[in-house]
Amino acid sequence: MTNSFSPYNLPSEKKLAKHFNKIKNTKIKDLFEKDHRRFEKFSIKNGDLFTDYSKNLITEKTLELLLQFADQSGLKQAIEDMFCGEKINVTEQRAVLHTAARSVLTKENPITSDGEEITAGLRKIFEKMASFTKEITNGTRKGSTGKAFTHIINIGIGGSELGPKLLVSALKTFGNKNLKIKFISSPDPSHTKEILKQANPEATLFIIVSKSFTTKETLINYKAARKWLLNSGIKKKNLNKHFAAVSENKKEALNSGILPDYLFKTEKFINGRCGIWSGAGLCPCILLGADLFADFLSGAYEIDNSFRHSPFEKNLPVILGLIDIWHRNFFKTATWAIFPYEQALANLPFYVAQLCMESNGKSVNRQGEKINYASAPIVWGMPAPNAQHSCFQSLHQGTNLAPIDLLSPALAQNGEKNAEILAANHFAQAEVLMNGASDNEIYKTGASKNFIKQTAAHKTLRGNRPSISFIYKKLTPKLLGKLIATYEHRIFVQGILWNIFSFDQWGVEAGKRMADKILSALTEPKQDEKQKLNSSTAGLINIFKRFQSDEL
Ligand code: F6P
Repeated sequence: MTNSFSPYNLPSEKKLAKHFNKIKNTKIKDLFEKDHRRFEKFSIKNGDLFTDYSKNLITEKTLELLLQFADQSGLKQAIEDMFCGEKINVTEQRAVLHTAARSVLTKENPITSDGEEITAGLRKIFEKMASFTKEITNGTRKGSTGKAFTHIINIGIGGSELGPKLLVSALKTFGNKNLKIKFISSPDPSHTKEILKQANPEATLFIIVSKSFTTKETLINYKAARKWLLNSGIKKKNLNKHFAAVSENKKEALNSGILPDYLFKTEKFINGRCGIWSGAGLCPCILLGADLFADFLSGAYEIDNSFRHSPFEKNLPVILGLIDIWHRNFFKTATWAIFPYEQALANLPFYVAQLCMESNGKSVNRQGEKINYASAPIVWGMPAPNAQHSCFQSLHQGTNLAPIDLLSPALAQNGEKNAEILAANHFAQAEVLMNGASDNEIYKTGASKNFIKQTAAHKTLRGNRPSISFIYKKLTPKLLGKLIATYEHRIFVQGILWNIFSFDQWGVEAGKRMADKILSALTEPKQDEKQKLNSSTAGLINIFKRFQSDEL
């Protein structure tokens, strides 16, 4: 079957298809036999972040053709266009400049977009975050009854939660130990109530994070938070001292009662799923302090420079993005899994899932034509130690070829050398996924020859399963900045190679509108009859209502 991967109808695409047919049955482990320098050739070191991509079915010829494809796809110019503030988010007529938020603390020349200098504005947001953080930390900015804030509750959803939550969960060991930080995103009232009851209303600051300030789930929780404060005795006129907000929609935020000096801007050219680098990073900034938040930015800035200026053959996000295409569009893999061995990175898979699936989950190319090749895979993952005891069976013996990222530290965050068990499992899994295992290696002794023969096939792991290994020295704010920026740019590379727009998300709007319609059918009498709903939906509404009224 000819490969239909043709985003640009380039000569390199045809060569790649031919090359794939030639090597697709090669054993990865044999490539190591043939070239003892394979590990050195197929790995990249960015300071304290080391990436080994040698356990993938790629040869030097594969890389040569993939790099030709990258060159011919216009990737170099696309990278420049992003950093220089071109309106690459075409369907929303916006630039994409989360990278500018990382350079605000450097001596870089100011960045302009749409004729407007934007660096000063981004620096102002950072400085406001820094002084707000200082006032919270030193107690000069308090709750309405004079108590210092000890509880911070981030209310937001999607990128307005995933980024802040990843940073807080990954870096809390570096943060202010007096602060208890919680997150509310779902409109599930039981969950919201559960979170609120753990907090002290007088000492609680809510941060409402919503770029649009129209996201229903966030507004429902904002309202619930106000009601909780009122019911806890906070006077109505003082409520606003317990709310900060992060939004592009200044008018709605102020109209909702947010005080101007509690309002932080997030710029229109910073996409929701990349909001963490500016205003949406307020919660982690308060936890860490502005200096460590600046370290986080500096890590990303380091990767930005390397992404923008390194030759593609030694450019980590480019190499990773090319390997993703090689798996997705040639091996036809359906998913991409992220397995961190360090518990502090437990939320990384969720963050990367939004980054990839909301950016590249598209089926129309930049020319508006339906694409006939695969775009974003399904992204999943979980802490690796748990995964080994749940889904790794399928990764070892299942019918799916599933590309995975394995990540582990060399040192624990407190600097202790107790990460060996994590690394041992990481390296072991990667080794066995690649080499497989024969029955006698995993067979319990004492069984009869006949039984061993009968069950051998069930106990054999065929191997030749790929993995990319990341080892980092220690999970610090700067390292996390490097890691997240690497994933961001890797996904940017995927989007260019797939010839799709990666910075809009029109696919999420219809569901929101339909939810409003159905909510009225669920809550207003006779509405369900008026609406021309599908019989399944109408039937579900009927059962739901009858369950609620105990008729069933
Ligand atoms: O519905 C998708 C989305 O717009 C995401 O892109 C975004 O991160 C999330 O919803 C929250 O949006 P907002 O920050 O505007 O509340």
